[in-house]
Amino acid sequence: MTDFFTRRDGALAVEQVPLARIAAEFGTPTYVYSRAALTTAYQAYAAACKGRNAHVQFAVKANSNLAVLQVFAQLGAGFDIVSGGELLRVLAAGGDPRKVVFSGVAKSEADMALALAHDVRGFNVESIPELDRLNAVAGRLGKRARVSLRINPDVDAKTHPYISTGLKGNKFGVAFEDVLPTYRAAAALPHLEVVGIDCHIGSQITEVAPYLEALDKVLDVVEALEREGIRLDHIDVGGGLGITYADETPPDITGFATTLLDRVAARGHGHREVLFEPGRSLVGNAGALLTQVEFLKPGAAKNFCIVDAAMNDLARPAMYEAYHRIEPVAPHADAPVTYDVVGPVCESGDWLGRDRALAVQPGDLLAVMSAGAYGFVMSSNYNTRGRAAEVMVDGDAVHLVRERELPADLFKGEHLLKG
Ligand code: LLP
Repeated sequence: MTDFFTRRDGALAVEQVPLARIAAEFGTPTYVYSRAALTTAYQAYAAACKGRNAHVQFAVKANSNLAVLQVFAQLGAGFDIVSGGELLRVLAAGGDPRKVVFSGVAKSEADMALALAHDVRGFNVESIPELDRLNAVAGRLGKRARVSLRINPDVDAKTHPYISTGLKGNKFGVAFEDVLPTYRAAAALPHLEVVGIDCHIGSQITEVAPYLEALDKVLDVVEALEREGIRLDHIDVGGGLGITYADETPPDITGFATTLLDRVAARGHGHREVLFEPGRSLVGNAGALLTQVEFLKPGAAKNFCIVDAAMNDLARPAMYEAYHRIEPVAPHADAPVTYDVVGPVCESGDWLGRDRALAVQPGDLLAVMSAGAYGFVMSSNYNTRGRAAEVMVDGDAVHLVRERELPADLFKGEHLLKG
């Protein structure tokens, strides 16, 4: 249990609000976030950055609900975005575009133009064709785009292959051996201003060692460039810090961020600004997916607990075989039975948890924990299921921050053939 999801008289609550009250008021499935948990995680990064030239850019892709972005914007966060859509969300939430960094392997011309029009702080660029495209778009708009190169340091982040990004075989970043020539190419383009360097080696990383290995390679590049007269003002160390889903023991946020900042300073780069791009570690354990048991289906090989949330609501188990703890909201005293917790979608891959010991009855509520990151944002309308509602708890107040999608919403933009 995280600090903000606790049991009160046996029943699961978030901050001061029983989850049963949220289900009664807003129905299920519903994503529930804790404002205090978001704030606490952000403050843990801020504590490490205090007194240093270092800032946090929340990776919007992890959870782009406007109210979540609003909480971070109010705390002073910057944002790491990967699309024009995410930029518009940041603006709608009151975020400052001058604190926005635009990442992603293939930004469209339209998105580049939008970001330039809003004067974002910079672009993390991943290839020479992308530099050329950005140079052309900036030239057309009479602007100069500030760029960092995302380099691929060829470091094993020791995480799931689908969320590992800093190895040679990944599509991400400029290959390490091409980094210097690519910087030279960037520096020669008239509508670009080279300002920094970026790297992101993966996600759900639970050790510091791969970060330090990547950081050392990044600093080697910074030094080599400086010898050539290309000066970088900032170093973006990416995101990727893991959280506890089951029994992982990632480093605590403040200690982790401090270790990286100390390494930057120890190597004589303390005057440069350092950016962190965390997603999961800011929001993952601040959210849960609340769902209701529909039916229990005992079987010879397996017992199934069929709930009203499905792979379209939370894709991580189906996509990565990810583990999310599943907690009964109001536990029974009955002996637990081992179930696979599955959804109503017509796929065998539609499961949320396997082999879970639960004492449950139809109608009971379950909370799928640690679902604040890459939960709602990866949801789909598969099986023409409306996406879940999202609520934010703040002390004893509950705010609906996204309405449940209704069936009519789902085919609003579709057209019948004329005749
Ligand atoms: N910066 C960049 C350039 C990224 O690509 C990512 C995540 C982040 C920052 C934030 O990483 P975080 O701190 O959240 O690990 N859907 C997967 C995770 C995909 C991560 C994609 N990139 C999952 O559910 O595990």
